[in-house]
Amino acid sequence: MRRPLIAGNWKMNGLSADAVALAGALRDRLDGLEGVDRVVCPPHIHLAAVAGELAQSAIAVGAQNCADAPQGARTGEVAADMVADAGARYVILGHSERRQYYGEDEALIAARCGQALAAGLRPILCVGETLEAREGDRTEATVAEQIHGVLDRLGAEGLGEGVVAYEPVWAIGTGRTATAEQAQQVHGFIRGQLAERLGGSAADAMRILYGGSMKADNAEALLAQPDVDGGLIGGASLQADSFAAICAAA
Ligand code: G3P
Repeated sequence: MRRPLIAGNWKMNGLSADAVALAGALRDRLDGLEGVDRVVCPPHIHLAAVAGELAQSAIAVGAQNCADAPQGARTGEVAADMVADAGARYVILGHSERRQYYGEDEALIAARCGQALAAGLRPILCVGETLEAREGDRTEATVAEQIHGVLDRLGAEGLGEGVVAYEPVWAIGTGRTATAEQAQQVHGFIRGQLAERLGGSAADAMRILYGGSMKADNAEALLAQPDVDGGLIGGASLQADSFAAICAAA
């Protein structure tokens, strides 16, 4: 039985005081909640402050990215061991916004994954199709290419204790959430691809999160699906009550 995981991707939002206040509000609402892993992913600049605020809490902290190389001459990047040092245990990689705005491809994402695993971080590997791909019946081809394009470049351990997040691009930030049936169909396909690659037991153990306009009012139906093991939440993670409601639905 996979333990549910709800992760909040705060994206590029909030100044330091906002981040610390949100972390404290989540701690007040979520500490004591049993049976679900909770993670918050602030911008890099706020990682240490948020981790400090959550130091006595069961809520884990994640980063939104990490460098594809160890410490050194990579201006503007943040090395995986740096985000781990700041208190992160997870790291979001391959988010569609990084693919869209910064041209990240599977080779770069895999290199970032390798650094994350070497630093003891758990990758949250994001995959998902554009609306054009879905309308062109290329959802499974897209997701398969994204998964295998990264796993081809990692060792036998694959993502280790990391997770996969299925985030249909057309559902991110749009309020147009995938139906529970649509999500289950792709999550089931992803689990099949993982089984082909990593073996059945590893695939069965790996958590697959859904992301893309998951809200308090649709979380229960999505999380009730057999291959939906949690959520990667954007907008709703910036509101303590909404994020807490989604965690409670898991
Ligand atoms: O990484 C999660 C994010 O892409 C989903 O955003 O606002 O649709 O929940 P949102």
